Amino acid sequence: MKISVIGCGYLGAVHAASMAKLGHTVVGIDVDSAKIAELKAGRAPFFEPGLPELLLAAQDTGNLSFSTDFQDAAEADVHFICVGTPQRVGENAADLTYVNAAFTSVAELAKEGSYLVGKSTVPVGTALRLQEEIRSTRDGITVVWNPEFLREGHAVKDTLHPDRLVYGVESGLESDAAVAVLDEVYAQTLSEGTPRLVVNFPTAELVKTAANSFLATKISFVNAMAELCELTGADVTSLADAIGRDDRIGRKFLNAGIGFGGGCLPKDIRAFNARAEELGADQALTFLREIDLINMRRRSRAVEVMREMLGGSLIGKNIAVLGTAFKPESDDVRDSPALSIAQQLQLQGATVKVTDPEAINNSRRRFPELSYVETVEEALAKADLVAVLTEWKQYRDLTPEDLAPHTRGRVIFDGRNVIDSKAFKAAGWTYQGVGRS
Ligand code: UDX
Repeated sequence: MKISVIGCGYLGAVHAASMAKLGHTVVGIDVDSAKIAELKAGRAPFFEPGLPELLLAAQDTGNLSFSTDFQDAAEADVHFICVGTPQRVGENAADLTYVNAAFTSVAELAKEGSYLVGKSTVPVGTALRLQEEIRSTRDGITVVWNPEFLREGHAVKDTLHPDRLVYGVESGLESDAAVAVLDEVYAQTLSEGTPRLVVNFPTAELVKTAANSFLATKISFVNAMAELCELTGADVTSLADAIGRDDRIGRKFLNAGIGFGGGCLPKDIRAFNARAEELGADQALTFLREIDLINMRRRSRAVEVMREMLGGSLIGKNIAVLGTAFKPESDDVRDSPALSIAQQLQLQGATVKVTDPEAINNSRRRFPELSYVETVEEALAKADLVAVLTEWKQYRDLTPEDLAPHTRGRVIFDGRNVIDSKAFKAAGWTYQGVGRS
């Protein structure tokens, strides 16, 4: 099939390359000429394992091209809209400027009988509004909502081999012509036995926000337990292992730590709440505010714990921060708890040296006032305290012997509960994790 992908950010770049891999002829469109130049050269504009290889392989077959000219999308049978829906400045609601503009632009040039498939995370009600707006100006263009559940760091696998495919069609019926078109797009994925659910527009929109809210709730739940563990001498990791054994609960997403961040969970739960208020259902989602509060409290608590570990004051103390990305295998620092904690430590008087295997450039752009270094050794130099804030494998594997020659103190804060605490304690270090006595 001929496919266009509008918006070549995280979602779009991966989607375009993956659709080409599935055998379609794909053009990726973005207004950012620097990004398009990178993609054309087979370079991903962000760190994502497997994506550069996929971009090069797909472009070699001639199935994948990129352009800044919307007109190059005109011949596509299916247009995937993958633009961002950031949080509105000064508000909790989602900013739909890019989604609205993309749908309007594509609807003007799309050929009759083509499909506009939304993949962006949007407030419930958006798909129907867009379909009605398009219908008022021209015929023969069908809107479909097909939410994406990809995780950064696993984006290629999640796109090519998803847990499930969700098709939101206006009728909500299997017999809708749009279902057959998406089945053709995803034929290879479906042949692997991937479950697919056909639902109506609002269900498809809600599936995405509900899934992200549930994940955020799991993380904040375990972080709330961590608060109680800290007060009672219980151990949150053992608690998570024990409750996670129950299939109904499950162990995944029960890792206590400095909380969730990134470009999705924080903004999506806020936008969901804002939409519920607009719908007069704010009571239904009041709990999400508490989820957000628990999450934010983790950050301030981490700073407090480190202050206590350093004898009550951060002023004049050297702190080595290992990790600024919001999670490992990513260079993304949007709403990263690690970077936000590093900044707080510095603002409260510590001298902070920060390193990360992939996220230094993005971190520097966001918080230029921190001191960034390339290697762990440089970060550790004369450190009074070492803070592991993103669980990159190379940090998880660090031993007391690796750190001791460089640091001034023997104090380690494990913001992700991934360090070998026994080894550090045995070597005479003061160790503190999250939710552990
Ligand atoms: C998330 C959803 O997982 C994905 O389905 C959706 O499409 C986009 O949002 P992503 O933002 O890539 O994906 O990150 P995810 O792996 O979900 O992690 C989010 C945050 O939660 C990270 O900061 C991570 O460190 C944190 N986290 C995750 C925890 O603190 N504890 C856990 O147990 C799991």
